[in-house]
Amino acid sequence: MDVQSNGKRSVLCLRYLNSRICKCIAILLVLLIARAIVFPFSSFDRIEENGLVVIGNRSPFCLDKFLEVPQIVWGLNNQKIAFARACLTARMLNRTLLMPSLSASLFYKEVERLEPISFDKIFRYEEFNPRCNGFVRLGRYMDVSNRTKPIKIPKGSGRKWTVERDLEQLKKYSKEPFDQSEVVRIEGKNPFLWHDHWPVKDYAKVLECLVLVDEIEKEADKVISRIREVGSEVRSKLDSSATGAKARMSLQPVPYVAVHMRIEIDWMIHCRKLEQRSKMNQICSSKEEIVNRVGNIIEMKTPMVVYLAVGDSLLNDSSISKGWKDGFVPLEKKKLGIDEIYQKYPYLVQSAIDYEVCLRADVFVGNSFSTFSSLVVLERTQKLTKTGVSNLCGTDVRWRSYAYNILGDSNGARRWIVDMSDLSLEKISYGSNDTSCR
Ligand SMILES: *[C@@H]1O[C@H](CO)[C@@H](O)[C@H](O)[C@H]1NC(C)=O
Ligand SMILES: *[C@@H]1O[C@H](CO)[C@@H](O)[C@H](O)[C@H]1NC(C)=O
Ligand SMILES: *[C@@H]1O[C@H](CO)[C@@H](O)[C@H](O)[C@H]1NC(C)=O
Ligand SMILES: *[C@@H]1O[C@H](CO)[C@@H](O)[C@H](O)[C@H]1NC(C)=O
Repeated sequence: MDVQSNGKRSVLCLRYLNSRICKCIAILLVLLIARAIVFPFSSFDRIEENGLVVIGNRSPFCLDKFLEVPQIVWGLNNQKIAFARACLTARMLNRTLLMPSLSASLFYKEVERLEPISFDKIFRYEEFNPRCNGFVRLGRYMDVSNRTKPIKIPKGSGRKWTVERDLEQLKKYSKEPFDQSEVVRIEGKNPFLWHDHWPVKDYAKVLECLVLVDEIEKEADKVISRIREVGSEVRSKLDSSATGAKARMSLQPVPYVAVHMRIEIDWMIHCRKLEQRSKMNQICSSKEEIVNRVGNIIEMKTPMVVYLAVGDSLLNDSSISKGWKDGFVPLEKKKLGIDEIYQKYPYLVQSAIDYEVCLRADVFVGNSFSTFSSLVVLERTQKLTKTGVSNLCGTDVRWRSYAYNILGDSNGARRWIVDMSDLSLEKISYGSNDTSCR
């Protein structure tokens, strides 16, 4: 019902009417339409009761008011979080978010080389609004009628700009007279650096509406089928027993583990600093530590192919494939013969493909202080929750995730889920040694 009334609402909303009148007309019409569709024969009382429920549950997007945010920058996962935060900010202001620019490259300081790329080059725009219907909404610049001048909101910064002040500001701009303006434009820094006011489950809801465009999705499919193909060859070589043959006959795809190995020089410098600052020694993991802890995971059934999701700078480093326990077959892009797939694309797309490969892996192992790993685990936890299992940390569940930087049972990596009831995204954006599983 909401889908239908949504479409009608935007037609009915006359742009130049005062927003309050518009709202009232829209509500009345929605009530009437809802009544006609849902309860053609029932009594009037019931209808009103139900009509009100409908109004209460939806966000009033009919007003065609927009929020504009600065270009979204940095790593893929910083960008995803920043995007979700911009959506949630728009939701709070009762506005539609104007489709922001993402950044195709990873230059941190050289702003002129940030290569803006439109959101819909990476994620499907047509898929986003239906999936997030009633929660948040994206709009296009051509939807703006420019009937009033945009209002600019300067984001404060510095020590004095507290979470509370930030929230006050948002509240102020959601009220009169600011709520009358067609476009509100937040100026200043990248949304990743804005204060956070929302629970993890709200972020998860937005992230679920992000679907890769077909071209990128297809590349990820190719990578995954190549991994499974090699896995199947490995199995038939290592395991020629009757059960092995039977397994090969079955149509079950061959499982794989994805390990997000963060050992590049820049990360090592960053994580050592982080360790010093937080007086903790669980942030950096050496290559040897990763290999050992993945090898010691007790639930792991061998032979198993291990996809190494590593940064470009490690692709020529053959040592990442050494030292693995018997039964573990490490694979990287070159060995799989898929590095050309990646070379066709800018950083952001490469990262999006690797993210998908990690998200869909049977087992994922990452670093709990990496935003990339943490977001992968957030989405895997969300998927797992939907299957209805009672113990998300159980040993026999699907889509298990582990953190190699935290010691778990039998000297293996620690089981890891994201606490979906957490009230802020802090642990995910900045990392934590709490993996919510014993
Ligand atoms: C409003 O302005 C934006 C940005 O300048 C432009 O892209 C858009 O086409 C304009 N809309 C209309 C209806 O003129
Ligand atoms: C946004 O819309 C909802 C639903 O109509 C309303 O309850 C809320 O007060 C509005 N928020 C603001 C800040 O105007
Ligand atoms: C996380 O770090 C804190 C502070 O260093 C420490 O007290 C705690 O035991 C650690 N937790 C785990 C699960 O290792
Ligand atoms: C890896 O080595 C190949 C051939 O030696 C070279 O062409 C390529 O640029 C190297 N890649 C990286 C990321 O260093």
